[in-house]
Amino acid sequence: MLIFDSGVGGLSILKNIKKILPKIHYIYILDNEAFPYGNKTEFFIIERSIKIINTIKKIHPITIVVIACNTVSTVALSILRNKFKFPIIGIFPDIKTASKITKNKIIGLIATKTTINSYYTKKIIYKNSFSNTIQVIGTNKLALIAEKKVRGITVPEIKLKDIFQPWTSLLSYPDTIILGCTHFSLLEEEIKKILYKKSSLFFIDSIQKVAFQIKNYFYKSKNNQNIKKNILLYSKNTKDLQNLLCYLKRYQFAKIEYFNLN
Ligand code: DGL
Repeated sequence: MLIFDSGVGGLSILKNIKKILPKIHYIYILDNEAFPYGNKTEFFIIERSIKIINTIKKIHPITIVVIACNTVSTVALSILRNKFKFPIIGIFPDIKTASKITKNKIIGLIATKTTINSYYTKKIIYKNSFSNTIQVIGTNKLALIAEKKVRGITVPEIKLKDIFQPWTSLLSYPDTIILGCTHFSLLEEEIKKILYKKSSLFFIDSIQKVAFQIKNYFYKSKNNQNIKKNILLYSKNTKDLQNLLCYLKRYQFAKIEYFNLN
């Protein structure tokens, strides 16, 4: 199984996969060289995803790909599915579930700018906005804050307040919030603190949904795995990598190393 994201966001999916499929092995591509995906063009994201899959394909046979990133999924999933034969699972902002849950009919969707501007997201917002008001925040700052948090850098409340200001200044606040980027789940507590006083909140991040889709796949296909250990490959050597390695320990990767994607 190949899993990829621009950074640590996808690890929140991995955590859930490990819970329900403890025996599955995987290669996690942490594409920090291209972080953040959220400010890249659709063309770049499509090309980059193809490159990641093709490069890994050459060194490890792939049975399934998990795109642990809303930005890549909303922009490139259908293209990637047409291009490759193995199953590819993606993660999407789940407005449908939010519509069922919301009581005040105000839904908040926060995601990267590329996700918000994608055709897929525009379409689901349009479809669901007849029965709900959908308040949208497109930001590339929050994923960076999540990356810093896992490296032990304190989350600056003032920056969070600034990001969520479009909602905190509303007269009626969303009661259901879609975390449309896998990085944001790592900040759920901090986000709650900023918004909690406003109303009782419900968060939707699609992570469990994806984990169950993967479980279902392995159950149905009875696929034998061909990767024998868990590996993390990162695409850029950076100074702060030591701090990140500390965080990664909890995932018990047998191998963590640099991988050239160029
Ligand atoms: N974690 C990613 C997502 O779910 C992308 C964050 C970024 O690189 O901008 O959208």
